[in-house]
Amino acid sequence: MQIHTTIASLRTALADARCTAFAPTMGNLHAGHISLMQAARVHADTVVSSIFVNRIQFGPNEDFDSYPRTFQADCEQLEAAGVDHLFAPAEAELYPVPQHYFVLPASAHDNLLEGALRPGHFQGVATVVTKLFNIVQPQVALFGKKDYQQLMVIRSMVQELNMPIEIIGCDIMRAADGLALSSRNGYLSVEQRTEAPRLYATLQKVAAAITAGRRDFSAIEQEAMHSLAAHGWQPDYITIRQRHDLQVPQDDAALVVLAAARLGTTRLIDNLEVG
Ligand code: PAF
Repeated sequence: MQIHTTIASLRTALADARCTAFAPTMGNLHAGHISLMQAARVHADTVVSSIFVNRIQFGPNEDFDSYPRTFQADCEQLEAAGVDHLFAPAEAELYPVPQHYFVLPASAHDNLLEGALRPGHFQGVATVVTKLFNIVQPQVALFGKKDYQQLMVIRSMVQELNMPIEIIGCDIMRAADGLALSSRNGYLSVEQRTEAPRLYATLQKVAAAITAGRRDFSAIEQEAMHSLAAHGWQPDYITIRQRHDLQVPQDDAALVVLAAARLGTTRLIDNLEVG
């Protein structure tokens, strides 16, 4: 695997690439990320990943400074996964002057759920992903479904801004007890880690209620939030939405249940497509 810290070096290396698949990350890699690299290999002859902790997608009270940086271990995993090129720029390489141009996601996609709770987050994501797409110029890009709203924003951005890139959403990878793999799981204490699978178990109960025919979605959501709160969680939301735009369901749209909840100081998100 070649490691590039400059845009020029990566561009030179990719000049003759025929079909490139790209899976961007913020590092601290786990099996979920590695599954993106494996899926990338199926779609392209050149696989590129990036590691960049993108300051502009973190809010002022979020964990940018403490976000785990594990570069050496990440490189070993990417190498073992058969990644050809890793782009790992310093901040000054990607944002050499203060950034004055930003990609602003559609407000209908931004003013809800994670976007409403984390103002500016998706603008930061859309901006860095656009920059990375312009640098790598992949034909295919892969993102995990754990960040379901992020995937929707990126899909819509690529479609509306006519970026010639196929976006592939990859399934959530889970620990044996159901907890979705996440870099932030490392913040959990031993006790919290034992409690954490309840988030997915709660999503499964909501999905089962819908599959059984219940349509009183607000009541199901409230029950799920109360059940989590009763076990020491501080839920931000558990909500049943349409998959394609994450709006409140109309008619017989395909559904997804999304959750965000805090366990101590750690905020976990998860989701489950229904049906
Ligand atoms: O999902 C992530 O790790 C990040 O949001 C991404 C897409 C790499 C942009 O910084």
